[in-house]
Amino acid sequence: PAPQELAGKRVLITAGGTRENIDPVRFIGNRSSGKMGVSLATAAAAMGAQVTLIVGQVSVGLPDSPQVEVVHVESTEELLAAVQDHFTKTDALVMAAAVADYRPVKAAAEKVKKTSEHDEWAIKLVETPDILQTVAKTKRPDQVVVGFAAETQHLLANAQRKLASKGADIIVANQVGGPSSAFASEDDQVTILTPDATPDRWPKMSKNAVAQRIMKLLGQKLKLGD
Ligand code: C5P
Repeated sequence: PAPQELAGKRVLITAGGTRENIDPVRFIGNRSSGKMGVSLATAAAAMGAQVTLIVGQVSVGLPDSPQVEVVHVESTEELLAAVQDHFTKTDALVMAAAVADYRPVKAAAEKVKKTSEHDEWAIKLVETPDILQTVAKTKRPDQVVVGFAAETQHLLANAQRKLASKGADIIVANQVGGPSSAFASEDDQVTILTPDATPDRWPKMSKNAVAQRIMKLLGQKLKLGD
């Protein structure tokens, strides 16, 4: 068994993609498989943590362990409420969920029908709350908050900006799109950003291995805060 570096710790992890309703049958979603978040939950539990896993849309199996409590949500609003509900009780939060940045201003109550009058349909979107930023503002000094930055370009610059603007202790940056895309992939090449060190580029490895290393790092940060 893995060393119990997270024994007695509570870890809150979000995974998968959110869905924003357009009408009762349609939604705006994203390509997140939930694989990284689920791997993180499994790794944390193996290291002795008590895990709450908040999941949106996932296409992988969920951990079946007494150490992992699973909470299901759909929209960004529901995810925010669930995270806020659990945050004060947790030692660490890892935001691996792919959260919608925009949602329809208003979901239609009935299915929107095709009409013969027009062949275009514009859906007005409004920005969603940034969960990581909102919650990190209420962080205690003993809590560790981890975010992800998935970018198609200017990865490090964007990730560096996110570290500061979102108030996270760690940002895990990974490239999406192209041959080393993180989405729906088994492998991942990530760079770890923290406020007090230069970016640490990890070699390409399985998402399970990345998850284990992230949880080890989290264990070290939590220990420093003890
Ligand atoms: O800004 P961007 O979406 O690239 O940031 C990614 C990080 O922020 C991820 O950790 C994601 O879970 C989190 N996020 C959030 N709330 C949002 C958008 C992203 O917590 N509305």
